[in-house]
Amino acid sequence: MKPIYKTVGIVGTGAMGRGIAQIAAQAGSVVKLMDNQAGAAEKAREAICAQWDKLVEKGRMETTAATSHKASLLTAGTLADLADCDLIVEAIVERLDVKKALFAELETIVSAQTVLATNTSSLSVTAIAAALKHPERFAGYHFFNPVPLMKVVEVIAGLKTDAAVCSALADYARQMGHTPVQAQDTPGFIVNHAGRGYGTEALRIVSEGVADFATIDRILRDQAGFKLGPFELMDLTALDVSHPVMESIYHQYYEEARYRPSVITAQRLAGGMLGRKTGEGFYRYADGVMQLPAEAPVPRVAEMPPVWVSPRASRRSELLQLLKNLGAKIETGQSASPQALMVVAPLGFDITTVAVVERLDPARTVGIDMLIDDAATRRRVLATNPATRTDMRDAAHALFARDGKAVSVIRDSGGFVTQRVVATIVNIASDICQQGICSPKDLETAVTLGLGYPLGPLAMGDRYGPTNVLEVLFNMQTVYGDQRYRPSPWLRRRGAIGLSLMHEE
Ligand code: NAI
Repeated sequence: MKPIYKTVGIVGTGAMGRGIAQIAAQAGSVVKLMDNQAGAAEKAREAICAQWDKLVEKGRMETTAATSHKASLLTAGTLADLADCDLIVEAIVERLDVKKALFAELETIVSAQTVLATNTSSLSVTAIAAALKHPERFAGYHFFNPVPLMKVVEVIAGLKTDAAVCSALADYARQMGHTPVQAQDTPGFIVNHAGRGYGTEALRIVSEGVADFATIDRILRDQAGFKLGPFELMDLTALDVSHPVMESIYHQYYEEARYRPSVITAQRLAGGMLGRKTGEGFYRYADGVMQLPAEAPVPRVAEMPPVWVSPRASRRSELLQLLKNLGAKIETGQSASPQALMVVAPLGFDITTVAVVERLDPARTVGIDMLIDDAATRRRVLATNPATRTDMRDAAHALFARDGKAVSVIRDSGGFVTQRVVATIVNIASDICQQGICSPKDLETAVTLGLGYPLGPLAMGDRYGPTNVLEVLFNMQTVYGDQRYRPSPWLRRRGAIGLSLMHEE
């Protein structure tokens, strides 16, 4: 198939420029590499050719294909050498003034038909285009690192971008083997906006002393199926990249509470504990291997108390069945006997509030997160309240670990770890739909491919129940009085009918 753009210029041949150049050449375009650092374009060319050699070695590319790609990969000494390009993609330093100056100069060199695109991840496409004579041929083309493996690209229309330019860029993305998604020009576009919920809510949980980093990572991996916990992920991305993104999106949205960053990452960034690349982040790394702190052992309990389950527990019948399977002595009376361990399973509320409202003895009350079907998770999460007796906590821990499933015991908070993080992700995603930043379908595609979540955020909301998610948010808003937990109107409207329905309202 003939490529939509015969000749493609890449300005800035660092990590991103190289990746884009590689897939553009693989799509059959002639690619010209340009960098303002002496020798950088040649170095990039060699690196890309080495990538193709590797693919040939692994049997993933024909030798003839590699030879032809190499022949179509050229270097350009100056911007003037890009005069005949049909598309120019910029991947230079992330500075508005420098990008604006580059495109102003390119406009004096190329024809009026040449499409100009920026790979910016945090600047406004409209702002970069503001100085152009022909802003209609300018768009955002946001790839992810490493480009050949991250198969999604956001195509972003600035205020004046011609829709035909975006649709051609989307078609070209497909020719390069990528999946395009269309986004409005808003802070963080889709992926970096949708990704705000995961890390910021996890950081907030740590800042409240509810659980430590490793426990939160374990819970989100084992309960909700995330490949990497939020702290492992931040260690991998490094805080010098992720903390500024958190700050930038928060400020660009005029201090919207949903995106509020954390002092924890600000301090760690200042202290140089950036993550894997500095050998220490939330975890320590010895020879590149993460040092995982050991889990708390399951306590030995000589005599197990009887168990009483609150009539208001979520998934109550499943919880009773689980306790039966674990061999618990279950009390069935209206109220608990004086010896009983009392189990509550709230959504969004803290254990203390539940004990007070339901008039339970807080010293014997322990909570369990039942948002997700127990059969679908690899870990159970219990929460104490400040008055919970140690023997009751240990009994609950030992009881719920009887079948060998992992158990984490956390401290009281509004909402359990998974409830808080999942509800925040679903809420932010719903607000992206509310703002019309992209279609629900593109949102799901962008998040699964760009962030590697086990499910798109809307499908995640449907899996765990939109009304459950709403209940978590409403109750957390009550507990914390914090605007960050106010449910998006889109979520409230869709709550009853499901979030991932693709029909338009
Ligand atoms: P990098 O630092 O690896 O490469 C930038 C290259 O641009 C360097 O080779 C530099 O010499 C060259 N350069 C700088 N100013 C130039 C100019 N005026 N003219 C020509 N060349 C110039 O940076 P990286 O990571 O490749 O990022 C490039 C762009 O892509 C930035 O806008 C960044 O925000 C964006 N981006 C980066 C992602 C990442 O994960 N690294 C992901 C998505 C977007």
